[in-house]
Amino acid sequence: MKTIIEPFRIKSIEPIRMLSRQERKEKLACAHYNLFGLHSEDVLIDLLTDSGTGAMSAAQWAAVMRGDESYAGSPSFYRFEKAVKNLMPFKHVIPTHQGRAAEAILFSIFGGSGKNIPNNTHFDTTRGNIEASGAVGHDLVIAEGLDPSNEHPFKGNMDLYRLDKYLEQYGKTVPCVMITITNNAGGGQPVSLANIRGTAALARKYGKPFVIDGCRFAENAWFIKEREQGQKDRSIPDIVRDCFVEADVMTMSAKKDAFGNIGGWLALNDDDLAEQARNQLIRSEGFPTYGGLAGRDLEALAQGLSEIVDEDYLRYRIRTNSYIVERLSKLGVPVVKPAGGHAVFVDARNWLSHIPPLEYPGQSLAVALYEEGGIRGCEIGTVMFGRQPDGTEIPGSMDLVRLAFPRRTYTQSHADYVVEVFEEISKVKEHLRGYKITREPRLMRHFTCKFERLS
Ligand code: F0G
Repeated sequence: MKTIIEPFRIKSIEPIRMLSRQERKEKLACAHYNLFGLHSEDVLIDLLTDSGTGAMSAAQWAAVMRGDESYAGSPSFYRFEKAVKNLMPFKHVIPTHQGRAAEAILFSIFGGSGKNIPNNTHFDTTRGNIEASGAVGHDLVIAEGLDPSNEHPFKGNMDLYRLDKYLEQYGKTVPCVMITITNNAGGGQPVSLANIRGTAALARKYGKPFVIDGCRFAENAWFIKEREQGQKDRSIPDIVRDCFVEADVMTMSAKKDAFGNIGGWLALNDDDLAEQARNQLIRSEGFPTYGGLAGRDLEALAQGLSEIVDEDYLRYRIRTNSYIVERLSKLGVPVVKPAGGHAVFVDARNWLSHIPPLEYPGQSLAVALYEEGGIRGCEIGTVMFGRQPDGTEIPGSMDLVRLAFPRRTYTQSHADYVVEVFEEISKVKEHLRGYKITREPRLMRHFTCKFERLS
């Protein structure tokens, strides 16, 4: 059989509705052209994020009913902890309400002014937590990872040569070495097992703890199985364990590859660090056996972790993106290739080349997708990364629009519709205009800044 089908059937549905074009224009103007400001009921196909937006399985909903809400020592925590340790062999597993809470706790310990923290590419909340502590984050992804059309199989890889030089140069000011799998900000691109091992070896050489941001660990493992020599006959759980056995610490958003609507964790091996982290957790999140989550959430995550490593699911999951990437490429829309794990990334700087980076071509395309077809995507470019800690603004390394697919939520006809909206936009793209930002907060401006369309 050629068609890779959705490996599930639908038991419960949520209606979605289409507003008129005029209504959509009004809604967006009211939101100052920031798509985060829309009411989600006014969105037809919501590809803003794959985070917490997936569909839970019948088994997860059943597990929810088993949730035990004891303040301390709930059996739901122990089931959650066992499910995490089954895939990621860390000594300490500390639940948090989502990934950024794990980051905040970690960088309250590792961060601070004068510190420098490398990653393949820091995700925005990771960078935000690092900068809020006074430290500086640096991105050291391989050069191929910044070239949208380069078909390198592991474009999320760390540049090991540069990392070596970096660790030599910054020496004692580096508290840890980080890697993000998959590399979300760089296009959902995977990191190879060999590169994870190489990064871990460099961290060890310089005596630094190695931290994996594991948000999309199962998608990353699928790419390793498909693309890395010697991995194709291995099981996904075995590949996952091989990745995490290299790490001293992991941060996790369980809203991605744990099929949760909420949740996260910080896991580590060092007893002293774990004690510091738990003390911070008690202050900001909750007691260490629930950490900002309900017992029922912990149950849903424990069950989700057993489902996310299913090969039929992962084959379908990765195919969703490669299908859209193939069809958009045929249309002449420049997209990041090869297709990433959780999203399709459109190269707006290239497609809308008449809009300069400091007029935000990615924002312009994101607005057009909503006005034309009710689709909500997310700019990942100069709006997100352009503002520097010293207050200046420079173009991001790319201007992408991310269409992130919630897990098990949309079907192939939704994907076909997305492609048709691009067909319509391609007829009028020369008329799309740039934007200017009229108001922005000090950090992570893309969530709340206000735009004005340039005439
Ligand atoms: N790290 C990565 C790589 C992420 O993609 C995210 C979230 C986080 C950390 C933070 O996790 O949301 O649970 O606090 N990414 C979402 C996204 C928001 O849309 O890509 P969180």
